[in-house]
Amino acid sequence: MTYRTLSDVDLSGKRVLIRVDLNVPLDGTRVTDDTRIRRILPTVEAVIAAGGKPILLAHFGRPKGKRVPEMSLSVVIGALSSAAGRTVIFADDCIGDAAAHAVEALETGEILLLENTRYHAGEEKNDSEFAKALAANGDVFVNDAFSAAHRAHASTVGIAEYLPAVAGPGMAAELSALEKALSVPERPVVAVVGGAKVSTKLDLIGNLLDKVDAVVIGGGMANTFLAAQGISVGKSLCEHDMLDTAREIMGRAEAAQCELILPIDVVVAEAFAAQAPNKTVPARECPDDMMILDAGPDSVAAIIARFKASKTLVWNGPLGAFEIEPFDFATNAAAKAAADLTAAGALLSVAGGGDTVAALNASGSGERFSYVSTAGGAFLEWLEGKTLPGVAVLES
Ligand code: 3PG
Repeated sequence: MTYRTLSDVDLSGKRVLIRVDLNVPLDGTRVTDDTRIRRILPTVEAVIAAGGKPILLAHFGRPKGKRVPEMSLSVVIGALSSAAGRTVIFADDCIGDAAAHAVEALETGEILLLENTRYHAGEEKNDSEFAKALAANGDVFVNDAFSAAHRAHASTVGIAEYLPAVAGPGMAAELSALEKALSVPERPVVAVVGGAKVSTKLDLIGNLLDKVDAVVIGGGMANTFLAAQGISVGKSLCEHDMLDTAREIMGRAEAAQCELILPIDVVVAEAFAAQAPNKTVPARECPDDMMILDAGPDSVAAIIARFKASKTLVWNGPLGAFEIEPFDFATNAAAKAAADLTAAGALLSVAGGGDTVAALNASGSGERFSYVSTAGGAFLEWLEGKTLPGVAVLES
């Protein structure tokens, strides 16, 4: 896939509209994880170094076309300014006079942050008038928000009609990691697909079966696969209405010669609670009054052996109830092994999607993966093989 990047455009003296993802988690008004903020800094610095004025376009939450004060992007000014070490000017609208005046007054080396694009209904409708109004404040459009690229919105797609559009370094890094992991991977490729429900990952697993050599199924969804084989899973989370679907997936995997790796032993407890009394049993022997909360050590050893036999790993979703100890064991142990193999140059490891980043960060191993995407829905849609509109519009 080819697309233009920052180096293909002259930024000197230009107003550079950069679509970023500042949809960061908050505790009250405190940013609890500034990863997305830190990821945009190289792009902002590159624009400033090339003589451009960085003007940030972003959404925050889902205000649905209305001014919802709790969803004002002003909440990230402090975190952005301290991460960037630069003055951040805020305009309380992303179009119109407020934005235009702020752009005009912007001094070299300052960053301008425009208010939530989703305060306008035209954003999510990809309305052309709204896209034009956004474009009026820039000379060049840089999309650096892979994690919002699954949305065909005015600030991700429509705006590219009116301005030269290029991929920012963050977007380029993401696309390059994803291509290496699945489009042109070094084989064998193993995927980890975890999480609570099979029903939310059907398209994803379906797409992976034809592309990878093995899929490790983890988390609650593994219970559904065990039940589909006639194994009793006691009180475990299990989608009993998905058993036929799970059997169909197993059949398709066999036809595609893609090995499905299910737990061979499991950690069971009486309750979903931290430190709940627990024991490890063979996967076929979950007691009726207990629930499976993690994969057991033999399963982890089998997963690690598969990592060792692979050249590429794509990881989405935890292997167990990683948010409560000690049921984070399998996720942590497998993540550590993947990180060690990556550090040794034996594995290219790419992870992303929702809980995955939280799980890998909690395991302390995420930083040693080849690439951890901060994207949630966009990463999943990409794993499903879908074309992301915000990426397609950049293709040249
Ligand atoms: C995300 O947090 O995954 C992105 O910012 C996209 O947000 P959305 O799901 O509200 O479009």
